[in-house]
Amino acid sequence: MTRMDAFRNRVGGLAYGGDYNPEQWDPAVWREDVRLMREAGVNTVSLGVFAWASLEPEPGKYEFGWMDEIMDLLHENGISVNLATPTAAPPVWLTQLHPEVFPIMADGERFGFGNRLHYDPSSPIYREYAANITTKLAERYSFHPALAMWHISNEYGPTAYNEAASVNFRRWLRRKYGSLDALNEAWTTRFWSQVYTDWDQIEVPHIPRTWMNPTRRLDFKRFTSDALLECYLAERDIVRSFRDDIPVMTNFMRFFRHADYWKWAPEEDAVALDIYPNPADADSHVSAAFQYDLFRSLKGGQPWMLMEQAASAVSQWPLNVVKEPGRMRLGSLQALSRAADSVMFFQWRASRGGQERFHSAMLPHSGPDSRTFKEVVGLGRELKLLAPVAGTTSRSEIAILFDWDGWWGLEETAGLPRNDFGYADTVMRHYTPLWERHYPVDVVSYGSALDGYKVLVVPNAYLIHDEGVRRVTEFARDGGTVLMSFFSGVVDGSNRVRPDGYPGAFRELVGAKIDEYWPARPHEEFAIAFADGRRATSTWWREDLHLETGTALATYADGLLAGRAAVVENRYGAGRVVYVATLLEQAAFDTLVAETVAAASVRRRFEGVPAHVECSVRGDETHEYVFLLNHSGELSASVPVGGEGTDLLTGQPVAGEVELAPLGAAVIRLAHT
Ligand code: GAL
Repeated sequence: MTRMDAFRNRVGGLAYGGDYNPEQWDPAVWREDVRLMREAGVNTVSLGVFAWASLEPEPGKYEFGWMDEIMDLLHENGISVNLATPTAAPPVWLTQLHPEVFPIMADGERFGFGNRLHYDPSSPIYREYAANITTKLAERYSFHPALAMWHISNEYGPTAYNEAASVNFRRWLRRKYGSLDALNEAWTTRFWSQVYTDWDQIEVPHIPRTWMNPTRRLDFKRFTSDALLECYLAERDIVRSFRDDIPVMTNFMRFFRHADYWKWAPEEDAVALDIYPNPADADSHVSAAFQYDLFRSLKGGQPWMLMEQAASAVSQWPLNVVKEPGRMRLGSLQALSRAADSVMFFQWRASRGGQERFHSAMLPHSGPDSRTFKEVVGLGRELKLLAPVAGTTSRSEIAILFDWDGWWGLEETAGLPRNDFGYADTVMRHYTPLWERHYPVDVVSYGSALDGYKVLVVPNAYLIHDEGVRRVTEFARDGGTVLMSFFSGVVDGSNRVRPDGYPGAFRELVGAKIDEYWPARPHEEFAIAFADGRRATSTWWREDLHLETGTALATYADGLLAGRAAVVENRYGAGRVVYVATLLEQAAFDTLVAETVAAASVRRRFEGVPAHVECSVRGDETHEYVFLLNHSGELSASVPVGGEGTDLLTGQPVAGEVELAPLGAAVIRLAHT
């Protein structure tokens, strides 16, 4: 049994609860908290996130009394604790004693006190104090019966340009390159006379007057992710050294560019996501769906944890609209439908003061007699009914590549033919037509196992290591379909243009050579003629593409590139490659994506169901759980389920079609036939 299996057993299936900050409240309130938690069906809380100043008010002086009491109280009430190390918020005494702990930003400004995450992850002093408080917590609570999980720090993220970061960066570079010659070669330092002759000459890349060596910048991104990971690992290893059977995790963020989660995920028992889809954005549930697929995929299909979401409004944007009635429930079911095994919130009880005093909570300022709390209680009741889904996952025949290195290459290094690539948006552009057609999609890295997939979607893979090139190429050669978009395969892992013309890594795969990249001028639009007679337009990007073994699925119908291929099809080994060399208008692109997956014989289970009804399936050897979620606040829908089963939410048998009211949901258990 894995640590997470044990955790699931302990909470009886799905974890339900949120961040709990009793240190902000009088003990009399704690009693009311646990009573209401029980009423809501809460079985897990994340305790102690940011509580450093309450646990160690002065250096070496500890106050664990309050935490002892609350741990006992929670345990007596059957509530498990996901105990946080408080190291995301160093207390003021630490920064006064050692101001060098404050991160220096790229422009040379030093952080001041008053926020959180104000530490340089490379600082040996920060690490020492963090290790110390972690050790004290582990000594005291490792065998407390309430302890169910360790929550290491919170949302690792700071980037620092301190002297300690330079020292750590040099150590990281020495380990990576071994010799200065190798580093000079990788960084192309003969360009602009940047050759290093001594390791000590290398510093973190503060903002220079204008441009920065792009490979130094790229390595600094990699290094920063690793420096943060070192902090996580140090604390994880401390808690593990006391007790080995408790799962350990930290919480990640949505589309977070500064940490390579593929590298982090194997170091955790479960990956956990904090997500705040903006209720003001009508499509935010689509990008949420992508995140959920990514999180399920980060550990190769294992269930993941929804660690934080909002019960209603957040307080981080200029305008924070509420989640309308029913939307919190629907969003929670959406996470479960994509293999989350928990529904957790920031936070349990709304804070009276501080930056997030207007951030909603399971228990809002208006108390238990409120819309939100009633919805929270209702959801808690439903999650008990959904316990059977815990531990199950989903399978897919389509994989989409998501690569942090490629993201950094496109967005963190200047000097590209155009410098406004948005990797996350590009990925969503590829994902959305699949989501709208209810195709299950996994997210993969170049290191993921690719067997079992029929289609590999590769959005703007500008920077790609040789190993990545090999994996993608083999996938096609062995019979897979690769759908790749423009400006892919351009540079190697050191950000150096691959030799012999674009798309260096993929010339054979695509069956074409690109003479030049032709980014479009603002407002330029191009007419596109598909081979089957359909017409479309494109913008933003073109490529002067010369076919070799490939054939044109579409060509430019006007302009200086008239007659050249805009979409290429190539047979490669036993596989097929579709390369899209321009930014097609969305409708035409969606059709192309749909046709490409259909041609690859990907099974389409929910054909004809409108896009506003999200359909997804998780299951195990014995059962499937079909989640049908109507995101429309106005339209109802009826959806064929393809079998006889039971709706876990109502307990009613279901056969044929399921009727969904606006914002309605069904979770149908079907036995495998
Ligand atoms: C998260 C963070 C929480 C809380 C929440 C709401 O990013 O982990 O502590 O701040 O956002 O804004």
